[in-house]
Amino acid sequence: MKKLVLSLLILALTIALAACGAENEPETADGESEAAETDGIDYLVLVNKLNPLPEGWEDAIETVHLTNSVGDDVEVEAKAYAAYELLKADLAENDGIEVELDSARRSIAAQQQIMDEFTERFGADYAKKTVAQPGYSEHHTGIALDLYFRLDDKDIYENEDMVQYPEIWEKIHAKLAGYGFILRYLEDKEHITGYGYEPWHIRYVDDPAIAQEIMDKGITLEEYLGAVSAVDFDVDYGDSSLYTLDELKDAAVQVKCQYAYFPGCELHSLRYAGDECNSEDNIKWLNELDPGKDYVQVAEFLTDFHTAAEDSGSLEPDTEYTDYQWWLARAEDGGWQLLSWGY
Ligand code: DAL
Ligand code: ZN
Repeated sequence: MKKLVLSLLILALTIALAACGAENEPETADGESEAAETDGIDYLVLVNKLNPLPEGWEDAIETVHLTNSVGDDVEVEAKAYAAYELLKADLAENDGIEVELDSARRSIAAQQQIMDEFTERFGADYAKKTVAQPGYSEHHTGIALDLYFRLDDKDIYENEDMVQYPEIWEKIHAKLAGYGFILRYLEDKEHITGYGYEPWHIRYVDDPAIAQEIMDKGITLEEYLGAVSAVDFDVDYGDSSLYTLDELKDAAVQVKCQYAYFPGCELHSLRYAGDECNSEDNIKWLNELDPGKDYVQVAEFLTDFHTAAEDSGSLEPDTEYTDYQWWLARAEDGGWQLLSWGY
């Protein structure tokens, strides 16, 4: 995401410079003094795949701008920025980790541009598990922050590079709660958040005690707020001689992410259907469903779940679904695409 947003941020920087004059300089002191006055927003606001940015939010927030180490303009809600500055200083002084801000507040137009770029480059499914639909991104709030870090005088800001440093993220995550931040998109909670694991995406909730409770319990904001019911389910990746466990986990994330669109739905189990799903007939069928992609491999998963009493979208309300099928395919050099689901 980092490079993809670069041109966008340069554009935003140019516009902001024209509109705001000197506002692009780091404003630590201003940020801190404004922070105390910022009491008009709900720092526990829930923005996710089912909950858009609340109306009036943009008028209620105060933001500051900074320029990060790669020269991009970043806009952040003022109180979250003051907290971030303290976190950054603590990590630098006590852990020798130099964090930077890649992206915080994004307009709906900026989010649309990121979504378009990701869809074109990586396919719709990858984009959906990585980028929020415009209007439904926590980044619109200004209190969701994407971090990156500098290592040996280099900026480590590509997603695929950043995930190579779990030990650095562990140290960063250990300090989040003390400054009122939580980690927002957890591993194995994709069916709740609707997104894959993002070690860089932190969310300001203001109260360190609340942040500490969320981090200690290893739960999502949705769980803390009681916005979801049952969250545990069984996973069985079976024995595959075609795919590695990581490849199956990668495919399963896309299935799990779909459940974040089903309000009140309880996922009970998810399992790999077995290597026989990769038949010539199935490869042909999925190529017919999505022509021109040249899919060469297929993976099928089965899920059991119970739908909500009402508002279950296209599914029957209050119904136990078993052996519900999910079909994914991939081309020689591509990632998994979720192409069909149902009975
Ligand atoms: N990457 C997060 C989900 C967003 O686009 O808001
Ligand atoms: Zn983010």
